[in-house]
Amino acid sequence: MKKKPIILGIESSCDETAASVVQENDQGIPTILSNIVSSQINVHKEFGGVVPELAARSHVEKIDLITKKAIDESGIKLEDLNAVAATAGPGLIVCLSVGLSFGKAVASSLKKPFIAVNHLEGHALSPKLNSKLNYPYLLLLISGGHTQFLSVQGLGKYKRLGTTIDDAIGEAFDKTAKLLGIEFPGGPKIEEFAKKGDSKKYELPKPIMHKGGCNLSFAGLKTAVLKIATKIKTDQEKYDLAASFQKTVEEILYKKSKIAFKEFKNINTKKNNVFVVAGGVAANKKIRKILIKLCEEENFKAVFPPINLCGDNAAMIAMVGLEKFKLKQFNNLDYPAKPRWALDESAKFLKGAGVKL
Ligand code: KG4
Ligand code: ZN
Repeated sequence: MKKKPIILGIESSCDETAASVVQENDQGIPTILSNIVSSQINVHKEFGGVVPELAARSHVEKIDLITKKAIDESGIKLEDLNAVAATAGPGLIVCLSVGLSFGKAVASSLKKPFIAVNHLEGHALSPKLNSKLNYPYLLLLISGGHTQFLSVQGLGKYKRLGTTIDDAIGEAFDKTAKLLGIEFPGGPKIEEFAKKGDSKKYELPKPIMHKGGCNLSFAGLKTAVLKIATKIKTDQEKYDLAASFQKTVEEILYKKSKIAFKEFKNINTKKNNVFVVAGGVAANKKIRKILIKLCEEENFKAVFPPINLCGDNAAMIAMVGLEKFKLKQFNNLDYPAKPRWALDESAKFLKGAGVKL
């Protein structure tokens, strides 16, 4: 029997240095052989956010060791690889350049094809790792840098239905956390604080809740949190603000997802009511719960990648690489790092708003 393709994936777009080996199994499902992620949380936490130069330096220090570990753990030999895939964007250019150059060097030294991958495509297709999922499906991508609804029609075929007009949802979580004195990245801690608080204590705004289709906005919410946070004195008040913030975000996502369901059904005649929620913020259990409830009400199937595949990782990059490999979609070694790279190129500008995203 013909050997199933094996792909090495490399990811360094932000503050995670990651490498992974993925192989297609006999049922045609991409299967993870190894998945190594080295987080830089300790490098950035005292700065309250990712410092690009420090992140890039840390990628340079670790990328070879992480890749060696991924190869060793997978049980394959370097020569067994069919291709090398690396994230080419979007992300921090100094960080992208590290993984991209390294990936190109490995591919070229092995004389194997090189494949440039869009990080967002990795998140978008991540639920296809280790499981079967048919196109089209509706995707809500919620991460530190992105918040968007996309109709995923197939590999490389995306239609954006809505996006944030200002901050990303993960950014709102992290900034709220910072105001409450929580170290970066504070999203998971906000979820913990919220469990101990009263979600009705503070009335927070839900910007563009009743307009803009399924576009979203979090800047006004962040400002409102800032105003309250400056007056807060006790730990209980911190918990209450975290709980009020968490509840507000849940209500925004519930309402906007409901609109996105309608828009998804309008553009897809082929019925496949599947709602995939991916990206770092999809690890939030209460957000999962409210979106599962919505799916039950609206007759959609809810799909969440496993928690360890929600955040940045290289398995999702290797998996996109595998899909592209099967279609012989290879790239030249002069492929550039792209700090901005929309999945739906036709939707770069928000209709009517003149806002570049
Ligand atoms: O996808 P990701 O790892 O990196 C980007 O591509 O941005 O997402 C990171 C974001 C951070 O903002 C982090 O605070 C947030 O995901 N996050 C969470 C949770 N876990 C991670 N936000 C809310 N609740 C969580 N449990
Ligand atoms: Zn990401």
